[in-house]
Amino acid sequence: MRIRVLGSGAGGGFPQWNCNCANCRAVRAGAPGFLPRTQSSLAVSANGDDWLLLNASPDLREQIAAAPELSPRRDDPVRASPIKAVALTNGDVDHVAGLLNLREAQPFSIYAARRVIDALAANPIFSILQPQLVPHIELPMDAPTPVNGAGVDLGLKLRAFPVPGKIALYLEDKNAPNFGTSVGDTLGLEIIEMATGKSFFYVPGCAQVDAPLAARLRNAALVFFDGTLFEEEEMIKQGLMGKTGSRMGHVNMSGDDGSLAAFAPLGVKRKIYVHINNSNPVLDEHSSAYATVQAAGWEVGEDGMEVSL
Ligand code: MLT
Ligand code: MN
Ligand code: ZN
Repeated sequence: MRIRVLGSGAGGGFPQWNCNCANCRAVRAGAPGFLPRTQSSLAVSANGDDWLLLNASPDLREQIAAAPELSPRRDDPVRASPIKAVALTNGDVDHVAGLLNLREAQPFSIYAARRVIDALAANPIFSILQPQLVPHIELPMDAPTPVNGAGVDLGLKLRAFPVPGKIALYLEDKNAPNFGTSVGDTLGLEIIEMATGKSFFYVPGCAQVDAPLAARLRNAALVFFDGTLFEEEEMIKQGLMGKTGSRMGHVNMSGDDGSLAAFAPLGVKRKIYVHINNSNPVLDEHSSAYATVQAAGWEVGEDGMEVSL
């Protein structure tokens, strides 16, 4: 199974268009130790020809251009795409806006939780993806679902499971408990290669590594995990926004409740942070935060990174 990190940044990317934080200034200036990052998405293939996208970011056009595997091949028909399916972990703008890049009457399948399918259906702009060409397939919880798209069996299964998280920002109900969040608003995905049984996990948004999630990830071969923030109050401290990580539905890396501590006893063989916000000090390869995550056995995801499993 081949996995390519299309975008390792969080919403806004790195640098973010309107951000002049220390990290964004440094990457804009081309400072050593800082790499630009596009927004959150992975691509997966069992056969190297047909690809499943995990989330569709607003940077998808640029991400496709950077990955030769994702464009039509020389001898393909006049309309063709190796992208046969897209699975969504939530309805956040950074994970669904790229669907609009996949218009132009090309067949593919969308896999998502019922709540996310309903959110797409409620927004008429997404009807540009004609339902007869682009079926929306509900992911059942905890039942491996074979991935098919444009008449092709991708040789992959998706096992979706709810993780602690939050409803999409634009759907928040300020008066409801936890802003109206309900099961299915934030999914983790296990992607299973049918021929080999090998699998990996993709959890780009997660508010807490609770006991069920920890049990599920124990001894996993590979996990891509929410690397939004290093510290709970990092965006407040930098004067960027008045929200903590918890309020945004993202567990931080550091601290007793952070992902570094939570993963330490889990025996995950390879763990890679993705969905890294531009405020996160790990984006500076010379920072102590970067050294800390490396010492804990983590990799800081980069755009274009390829992993074979
Ligand atoms: C998030 O990850 O919290 C969201 O992408 C925020 C947003 O919608 O901008
Ligand atoms: Mn996001
Ligand atoms: Zn910034």
